[in-house]
Amino acid sequence: MSRLIVVSNRVSLPSPDGAQGGLAVALQAALREAGGLWFGWSGKEIDTFTGSVRFEESDGVRSAVVDLEPQDVEEYYNGFANRTLWPLFHYRIDLAQYNRSFGAGYERVNKRFAEPLRVMIEPGDTVWINDYHLIPIASQLREHGINNRIGFFLHTPWPPTRLLVSLPYHERLVQAMFAYDVIGFQTGEWLESFLHYCQNELGGTVDGEYVTFEGRTLRAVVCPIGIDFRNFVGALDTKGAADIAQRMQVSLRGLSMIVGVDRLDYSKGLGERLTSFETYLQRHEEAHRAVVLVQVAPPSRGEVEQYRDVREELNEMAGRINGAFAEVDWTPIRYVNRGYSRDELIALYRAGKVGLVTPLRDGMNLVAKEYVAAQDPEDPGVLVLSRFAGAAAQMQEALLVNPYAPEEVADAIHRALTMPLAERKRRHKALLEGVEREDVHWWRERFVSMIEAAPSPRASAPAPSAS
Ligand code: G6P
Repeated sequence: MSRLIVVSNRVSLPSPDGAQGGLAVALQAALREAGGLWFGWSGKEIDTFTGSVRFEESDGVRSAVVDLEPQDVEEYYNGFANRTLWPLFHYRIDLAQYNRSFGAGYERVNKRFAEPLRVMIEPGDTVWINDYHLIPIASQLREHGINNRIGFFLHTPWPPTRLLVSLPYHERLVQAMFAYDVIGFQTGEWLESFLHYCQNELGGTVDGEYVTFEGRTLRAVVCPIGIDFRNFVGALDTKGAADIAQRMQVSLRGLSMIVGVDRLDYSKGLGERLTSFETYLQRHEEAHRAVVLVQVAPPSRGEVEQYRDVREELNEMAGRINGAFAEVDWTPIRYVNRGYSRDELIALYRAGKVGLVTPLRDGMNLVAKEYVAAQDPEDPGVLVLSRFAGAAAQMQEALLVNPYAPEEVADAIHRALTMPLAERKRRHKALLEGVEREDVHWWRERFVSMIEAAPSPRASAPAPSAS
């Protein structure tokens, strides 16, 4: 087995309480087995960029991080990554900002990451780059003569060609992807859009999974990410889970809970979700004083104005709907702007009769999978899932909805809350099997073995860099 070098914008080492996201746990397990290290941004700022790398080791996993200067963070992370690519990749060209300084900052930071990284890569290492922050890094590494196998996994959607062409210099961004040997997408839909672009905009040729452009061939695959099933379900026995279970039992006092958990992001469709819940309340008198929506939404990316706007909008909406429907002894929406640990979340999911996961567009959505994993198989809750989440491709037994259509979502909430036990069990069983089988370790092993199966050493010329 070759050593593994994982690269992503954020780096996460094992923490003493063990309560971490599934992705972090899976990558840490891979690094423990294969050796190697996890490289990325420290999340910290320094006045002037020095390129000096800090190494750390925790529980058999090594990491290497660099600090960035404020201009880097503004142009690369808040700029090109989160004001340009994130909205564009989530089909929101109305929110995408095209600013040359963002593109230049993105290019500069990818170069700054590639410099120390190339020194760490040894012949024979497998290199795995993650997500939209780092698309051009392989082309930078190739320019430095690195001919190792390099894979790229995109955690977000890939947009349709007609939207992608609104990005200035879109060709250069995609051309830089031909420095990779393998590119992984969450669903067939994103893969199709990528192949469509390569064929129709770049003039490349597509032969099954293989795409060739100017003499360079990459393999483009579908490889949906899962959750760390065993680790997650194990959290049901923790004190954190027991505490929340107890608190919810007391505070719900027989109310039926609908639960939503999302990073506060416009792609999650939280405004549309509150409107759908309002529609449900308008149409179902019997839900008053009987049903409550608990929406957990920890704020994120607060430096970016659209995130502040969505936060304000939701504060206003939750207040308005609660004001209109609440009674002295009942508040329909509990809107919570803080995060919860894995142990607490599993108990919260389990207490929810309905899991409401209605993003407008999502690469995958692991909350949908966690909700299913957390249920009691003898009395499971019902997952109401947006058809525009990548997870919908694998989770057809959920109640699939169009999150833009409030009446449709309201009907699904009603159907979920009144669904007979036999149907709930049948749907849950099918969903659970998928979530357990196609977990995050399955995903990681499949993707790494696809990178390792690429022909090497790379015969082709260095790819052009992106801007
Ligand atoms: C999405 C992205 C990740 C990112 C995460 C949190 O899941 O695909 O790459 O790390 O959001 O966003 P943040 O900007 O806080 O890292």
